[in-house]
Amino acid sequence: MKDLTSKKILFIICGGISAYKSLETIRLFKKNNAEIKTILTKSAKEFVTPLSIASLSQGKVYDDLFNVENESEMDHIALSRWADVIIVAPATANTISKLSQGSSEDLASTVILASNKQVYLVPAMNVRMWEHQSTKNNLKILKSYGYNIIGPLVGDMACGEFGEGKMSDPSEIFNEINNFLFKRIKNKKIKALVTAGPTNEYIDPVRFITNKSSGKQGYEIAKSLFRRGFDTTLISGPTNLNIDENINLIKVETAEEMFKATQKNLPTDIAIFSAAVADFKINKKNQNKIKKKENLTINLEKNIDILNYVSNHNYMRPKLVIGFAAETNNLDKNAISKLTNKNCDWIIANDVSKKDSGFDSYFNEVTIHYKNSKYKKEKLSLKKKSEISEEIVDRIVAQIN
Ligand code: PMT
Repeated sequence: MKDLTSKKILFIICGGISAYKSLETIRLFKKNNAEIKTILTKSAKEFVTPLSIASLSQGKVYDDLFNVENESEMDHIALSRWADVIIVAPATANTISKLSQGSSEDLASTVILASNKQVYLVPAMNVRMWEHQSTKNNLKILKSYGYNIIGPLVGDMACGEFGEGKMSDPSEIFNEINNFLFKRIKNKKIKALVTAGPTNEYIDPVRFITNKSSGKQGYEIAKSLFRRGFDTTLISGPTNLNIDENINLIKVETAEEMFKATQKNLPTDIAIFSAAVADFKINKKNQNKIKKKENLTINLEKNIDILNYVSNHNYMRPKLVIGFAAETNNLDKNAISKLTNKNCDWIIANDVSKKDSGFDSYFNEVTIHYKNSKYKKEKLSLKKKSEISEEIVDRIVAQIN
């Protein structure tokens, strides 16, 4: 993580049950030496106290536009100029609506309206409010003004419902802001292609062979690449995951479809193959549902190796080709032979025999093997897939820049 000494963050906390997550977010920024000031909206004070924010942030907490003490110390214009970045978390449906109208009815909205700095909104609300057309329209307006949106996540909500609308985790907010403050690629025209998720290989119209890949690792890599400014394409097998609409998402089902989509998206500057592509497909798919019988023999034939095709392309080989190796034994040895046989620049090995990492987990532990590097190999210890992705993309950005 970067040292944020001398970086100035203005937090705006709105009134919502997720306001407690802002405390953790502030703690994370403070731990990394950022200078923090906070504005609490009137309703935020129902959920968190100025005292708790002040002691966590070790910085000034503002709560009222027309407060004589505030205005004499730092007026609202100066406050908006002071910040390097403004984070609104949680950003409620009401605040999003007010901001889209250019409202300046309280200190929070006035500072944002007066600001010439990057504003990040971290929405948190009930799923129906999030899905409401008016919220969508308001966000569209705010995006067109240049506001960045972090999240929200899908999950169980405080109100008892399930769906999209949960506030992003503090670590995701931190990573996003960190990237904004420090490490974006210099050239915005660099294209990145990521494959993710499993493939389904059909036996008949209703049955298929697949594997346990959830797509989480690949999606996190695509998100990290996009945050750093890459023009990102994600070719995904079947998953339940969502992704920022600015990422070019191409949904496929079979290995053959994934191959065709990859071919169509060449040339690209970098390519990362995190998909768990089925090595075999059914030799002859049954046109109708197979009837129950005593024995069934299925003949398989080899699928095309997408990574191999791209890394050996004679005129469209990307500058950086990164493969993954999913192994259950002889991790290093098998990974290194894939690095060579598949002509990759790097191969990222993970042990998929473990329960707490690899397939379908939120966590992973990987070793990056480099083809031409003094580093040779680097281990990234067990952590969230989002953090693993950030570390992988740190290295990609360093190489590209
Ligand atoms: O999706 P998650 O649940 O988050 O899990 C993440 C993961 C474990 C799937 C991921 O981290 C991972 O290891 N992906 C690679 C899975 C895989 O198929 O590994 P492999 O060792 O069988 O293949 C080696 C490489 O060749 C991979 O980059 C793979 O994408 C590529 N390949 C393989 C076969 C094929 N026909 N085409 C390919 O492109």
